[in-house]
Amino acid sequence: MSRLPEDPPMAFRAHLFMCTNTRPPGHPWGSCGEKGAQALAEHLKATYKEMGIEDARVSLSGCLGRCDKAPALVIYPEGVWYTVKSPADVEEVLKSHLAKGERVKHLMVPAA
Ligand code: FES
Repeated sequence: MSRLPEDPPMAFRAHLFMCTNTRPPGHPWGSCGEKGAQALAEHLKATYKEMGIEDARVSLSGCLGRCDKAPALVIYPEGVWYTVKSPADVEEVLKSHLAKGERVKHLMVPAA
């Protein structure tokens, strides 16, 4: 899907959604929360602020429907999904994808 000429300007160059949903232990779907997503999301927000990026937005979210790829992070408008398992992963995505417009292929999630 592409933008139409009559669409209003985009509010942000990029919008990052990090799932922090937590399900009870033993739930068959698992969750990003039980894999450390809350702490990783806090690191994401702090690092993003430190980088001084003002034309993008980071939002924490409920389940994004990619629980098998937890902890899940998606960046729009590209629609690129990542699994970020460590603070280093978070920093690599921010510095490569968001700041340089590159991709972090070893953390990217293939299409569902
Ligand atoms: S619980 Fe995170 S994507 Fe579903």
